Amino acid sequence: RDDGYRLWLKYDLIKDATKRAAYARSTQLIVLNSTSPIQKTAAEELQTGLQGLLGKTVPIVASAGGKTGGITLTTNAAASLNSEGYQLSNQQNTITITGKTDAGVLYGAFALLRQFQTLQPIDRLSLTSNPKIQHRMLNHWDNTDGSIERGYAGQSLWKWYELPERIDPRYRDYARANASIGINGTVVNNVNASSRFLTAEYLQKVAALANVFRSYGIKVYLSVYFPAPKTIGGLKTADPLDPEVNKWWADKVNEIYKFIPDFGGFLVKANSEGQPGPQDYGRNHADGANMLAKALAPHKGIVIWRAFVYKADGKADRFKAAYDEFNPLDGQFAKNVIVQVKNGPIDFQPREPFSPIFGTMPKTPLGMEFQITQEYLGFATHLVYEAPIFKECLDADTYVSGKGSTVAKVVDGSLHQYPLTAIAGVANTGSDRNWTGHPLAQANWYAFGRLAWDHTLSSEAIANEWVKMTLTTELSSAKTITDLLLKSREIYVNYNTPLGLSRPWTGVHFAPEPWQNRSSRPDWTAVYYHRADSLGIGFERTAKGSNALAQYRPEVQQQWNNPATCPLPYLLWFHHVLWTQKLSTGRTLWDELCTRFYTGADSVGWLQKQWASVRKDVDSETFANVAGRLETQQKEAIWWRDAWVLYLQEFARQPIPAPFKKPE
Ligand code: GCU
Repeated sequence: RDDGYRLWLKYDLIKDATKRAAYARSTQLIVLNSTSPIQKTAAEELQTGLQGLLGKTVPIVASAGGKTGGITLTTNAAASLNSEGYQLSNQQNTITITGKTDAGVLYGAFALLRQFQTLQPIDRLSLTSNPKIQHRMLNHWDNTDGSIERGYAGQSLWKWYELPERIDPRYRDYARANASIGINGTVVNNVNASSRFLTAEYLQKVAALANVFRSYGIKVYLSVYFPAPKTIGGLKTADPLDPEVNKWWADKVNEIYKFIPDFGGFLVKANSEGQPGPQDYGRNHADGANMLAKALAPHKGIVIWRAFVYKADGKADRFKAAYDEFNPLDGQFAKNVIVQVKNGPIDFQPREPFSPIFGTMPKTPLGMEFQITQEYLGFATHLVYEAPIFKECLDADTYVSGKGSTVAKVVDGSLHQYPLTAIAGVANTGSDRNWTGHPLAQANWYAFGRLAWDHTLSSEAIANEWVKMTLTTELSSAKTITDLLLKSREIYVNYNTPLGLSRPWTGVHFAPEPWQNRSSRPDWTAVYYHRADSLGIGFERTAKGSNALAQYRPEVQQQWNNPATCPLPYLLWFHHVLWTQKLSTGRTLWDELCTRFYTGADSVGWLQKQWASVRKDVDSETFANVAGRLETQQKEAIWWRDAWVLYLQEFARQPIPAPFKKPE
């Protein structure tokens, strides 16, 4: 029985005895000749993994003493690796894990375990891997009261009321899971930050977490409330150019480093969705970021300043806001600042074009922000495997330095030689026993980490690896589940936001509300986004409309600016299209939308059938959990379909196309 707690670090006994024997030949000892806590972790993780997979206790020894057939952990400062990369090799049944640093050894240990877990041959093992991005982070939107903004898997993992005295063993398991996929940083609190996190009371608690994460190579960061000098410092202003404010932050940062000597730095949401920021004092984002950067620099801390900004303006196009505010500041940020940009210009929609900022700020390191938690993807009920969403953005070509200037090359620094690089995922973890609510949503946490390490991996390879490590190594079932994961996102898009629709909901972000136009802000209504009227639907972003397209390079504009050739997934992102317009599929827009809504909802039935077919190979509790959620998803997909179709019919005044009409 497995209730999902062990994630992809399940380490069940490998069934095939021949395989076990083959692995056993090279795993007779673990040679650890170092006092580094991180290398010690690596050795212990190997021991734990091998205990489960091979059913034997492998001793950890300081020296091989002439014996072959073991695993040796070693660092080599001269190895041709980057600081966290690793090398695995097997010569005459002796495996060596080499890192340039201790962290490299730890990542190598998990990579070796992955070889066993996915049943790879290891006789001629020879593998080198380097992370492409330096800061690979989770962002937790967790609050002091234990709630999680946009969290759907229970309460926060951090039990603030017990910390710092009691250390929940789960903190260590969290660190293990992250280290196993190469995540090396975690922002433990919500971007809508409480200044309490900067008080000594909370710094002690955060320090206690950092003490657990440290030996897994994970640094802790905090989201900060920009006016904290006022709210907890008693100052009259939080103006970033005020000397007293500067001093307050410098002192605060010094205090933080007393608690947490290897503290990572700050994440900041400022002048965004009502949060205060430097603009309140007539300053700009660079003024705000640089002030914090100056305080952190002596400690080698960094500032991650978010670019998620837009104004409460019903006439403006929100799509353009971040570019307009940030692009003019290129080159003005301090050296230890990264600007963190959401993958798309709006907000983690089921499908968005890549944010037009990527590539246009060569002098400012731009980090990627993905959302792992399924805010707009059906929470923990709907199955959506997200690697294809991440890949779609990373692989998109910005054309900023000619063909092949992908978003990934911007973010990994190779295009503009950024000195700092970062990628973040808004976490989907919570206190649910299985961490993510939906058992298959664990794959999204996993996929984020694997892509943060190496964005060239394919969605399929990552899915298959995760399935084998987590659910089953039976080939045909593993293939079926991989296939179902890979198709899940497109199915969701079809019944939820097909052809480039966006935000058919307001506040809660779960139920269909394309009609909901009562709101505190003119840009928070549904019609602001979908623009349905008696003629057609879609947001005109060509020169005929907001001209947001002009923020992209001409080659990109060319792909999207003609409604006749714009790929259908992006059509309504850029064009207001007539209901009666014939599309490349041969159907009118109305018929095509209906086709997507109906086939999307029907496809959930296909997901259910596929899942039913793997029953014999998946642990029964996980099987039932997923089956139950799929049943709800099926109902809710129909709910989405009917809500959209009935609502849009009011404008389009067209019948439901024949194939989908119910018999009278
Ligand atoms: C979305 C989300 C908010 C979040 C915000 C952000 O708007 O709904 O809950 O605070 O993004 O990323 O800052």
